[in-house]
Amino acid sequence: MTALDEPREAKVPFHLRGSYAPVTEEVEAFDLPVIGSLPDGLNGTYLRNGPNPMSGRSPHWFAGDGMLHGLRVRDGKAEWYRNRWVRTRTLEGARRRDPNTGEADLTVGVANTHVVRHAGRIFALEEGSLPNEVSPELDTLGPCDFDGALRTPFTAHPHVCPETGEMHFFGYELIHAPFVTYHVLDREGRLVHTQPIRVGGPTMVHDFAISRHYAIFLDLPVVFDLERAMTGSMAFGWQPEYGARIGLLHRDRAREGAEPQWFDVSLCYVFHIMNAWDDGPDGRYVWLDGGRHETMWAKGNDKFEPSLMHRWRFDLQTGEVKEEVLDDIDHAFPRIDDRRCGLTNRYGWAVAPVDPADRRHDAATGVVKYDLQTGARTTHSFGDTSLSGEPVFVPAHAEAGEDEGYLVTYAHDVATDVSSFVVLDASDMSAAPLAVVPLPQRVPRGFHGSWFADE
Ligand SMILES: [Fe+2]
Repeated sequence: MTALDEPREAKVPFHLRGSYAPVTEEVEAFDLPVIGSLPDGLNGTYLRNGPNPMSGRSPHWFAGDGMLHGLRVRDGKAEWYRNRWVRTRTLEGARRRDPNTGEADLTVGVANTHVVRHAGRIFALEEGSLPNEVSPELDTLGPCDFDGALRTPFTAHPHVCPETGEMHFFGYELIHAPFVTYHVLDREGRLVHTQPIRVGGPTMVHDFAISRHYAIFLDLPVVFDLERAMTGSMAFGWQPEYGARIGLLHRDRAREGAEPQWFDVSLCYVFHIMNAWDDGPDGRYVWLDGGRHETMWAKGNDKFEPSLMHRWRFDLQTGEVKEEVLDDIDHAFPRIDDRRCGLTNRYGWAVAPVDPADRRHDAATGVVKYDLQTGARTTHSFGDTSLSGEPVFVPAHAEAGEDEGYLVTYAHDVATDVSSFVVLDASDMSAAPLAVVPLPQRVPRGFHGSWFADE
């Protein structure tokens, strides 16, 4: 097929058509039909965020206004589904940057990337601005700066230490050093630590990691370019000369002024980390598993190189790094049982094509499960025409084992154009879904979500 033969729709960027196309309505529905049965004890709300430009147009997949899709489950019933735009200041016409001074207004963002809960508050996140607090019913309460304490953007990928209950996060900025700032919220949601992290320049930092004793920072060669930004195109590009390194900061010693120990790694980009762990406060090694891209946006900002699960082992004594490819499938959105965050995990789950050779954006996708102990990879397929969202693990009960529980997500069948809330048995990828809840409208392919168990 030549370019001349392509259907007209192909001229529309991928992020605005097909399963990615924004929806135009906010709807709600109550007491939805359930195919199969919702497990006993699965009581809570699944919220998922993603870009859904209100105007119908956006220059890049990452730029659309955030929309939350929520499904409430209690006592075996699907009580409601609801979708709502996050009512950001951007939707009111506010601008991120003063066009004259270049000064950033951190209350202005699109809130489109993730949604998390900490200390009883729910935040819609996007890495360029402050969190937008929302209610459990998806109403927007407004930007949150933690009583004036937070003076940087807030990443879309904070991580909660299961042992201390702290939420560790960072913010990155584009114009002024230190570019990256590390922060900790205590379990009550108070900002208790803020520390500049010296990186090489205005690098795009999407995720980071914690292990029991370290906070782990990526300093990789996707870098902000002011000249590109002035042209109105995506402001980040691949700059291999920038180099690639990863920094380990001892969490306790950071509170006493310690700085990260930096390790050079092979050139790459990483959007999403799966997990990290270490072997003690004065131990020798730290391990990091995540999706490694050989390059990113080297041939245009709509061209995403494959993401392969990769392991880095950092030797704190010698400064050496050992790298290892763990798996060869191109995956997205890796998740674990969050109770293992920073600790060794045996299992992880991610979105990946059902046919590993299929590289199309609209390829049927499934959920893969990595068993890091055996090296096995198993796949759940929703069928030849269905697309899976990020699989979020929900433990079956408080004492449940690591894969003893459920994966929840939204799937979209492109043949029928029906989206569904789906519950899988996390221990068995070959099993049919435990429950499928067809939704009253399509949920566009989006980014990240969380399960908020009833407290
Ligand atoms: Fe992300």
